[in-house]
Amino acid sequence: MAIEVKNLNVYIKENHILKDVNILFPEKQITCIIGPSGCGKSTLLRTLNRLIDSTEHVRLEGQVLVDGVDVIGSGPEITELRRKIGLVSQRPCPLPMSIFDNVAYGCRINRMYRKHRQLIWNVQKQLQAVGLWEEVRGRVRTPASRLSIGQQQRLCLARSLAVEPEYILADEATSALDPISSKTVEDLFVSLKNDYTILMVTHTLRQALRIADNVVFMYMGEVVESGPADSVFHHPQAELTQKYLSGAFS
Ligand SMILES: Nc1ncnc2c1ncn2[C@@H]1O[C@H](COP(=O)(O)OP(=O)(O)OP(=O)(O)O)[C@@H](O)[C@H]1O
Ligand SMILES: [Mg+2]
Repeated sequence: MAIEVKNLNVYIKENHILKDVNILFPEKQITCIIGPSGCGKSTLLRTLNRLIDSTEHVRLEGQVLVDGVDVIGSGPEITELRRKIGLVSQRPCPLPMSIFDNVAYGCRINRMYRKHRQLIWNVQKQLQAVGLWEEVRGRVRTPASRLSIGQQQRLCLARSLAVEPEYILADEATSALDPISSKTVEDLFVSLKNDYTILMVTHTLRQALRIADNVVFMYMGEVVESGPADSVFHHPQAELTQKYLSGAFS
């Protein structure tokens, strides 16, 4: 139940975007991916759930093993892969429908429940998991667009969780939030790691310091260093990592 990336190369047109990336993302832990803007963090996440397929002129080489199955070759069905790997993006993007229907959306598409009662129960469970239930219980049939941005982001997470993924990819999921909502979502990720394997791109080193079990430091398309957070943060091996952590560049 882990994701293993082996000799991954990603090219877009003639540009070599990810260069011979090798990483193991351990299960039921939070791995934070850090590195300067443009180093390939989002591209890496988008490759793992094959969202990268929608990019024109992209070419992939190497292997991405999700539960031992290579998703780059023939791989599993894309819909099944996306169910297994939820993605939470930088800006919350609720669907133009009610709070309830947002969470129920994937369950309906995947025909997960025969009985409406089971669906109602699952929607409530996921809203509770993201700490939103008490805030919205009286208005789940109202448009999701009326929620605050922080609430919308938790709703998007609930929508991802509703289809029972095993992995959660989060791409700067707290960067559009105010400090309080950001802390709520951050704490939420920490509580979710008991049940899910979490890969999180973060733009703040402080956030990575607070929540990461493992850290991957990338620079210009390459993984410079990766490992347990303690050793990467306190005993970085590469000079480049030391410089980045000391704030010499960002
Ligand atoms: N569709 C595309 N076409 C051409 N180049 C692209 C495309 N998508 C990404 N790139 C390039 O790939 C490189 C990595 O981009 P990526 O978005 O993965 O970086 P990032 O680490 O997520 O940066 P940021 O921290 O700013 O979000 C960048 O040089 C970017 O310009
Ligand atoms: Mg990015």
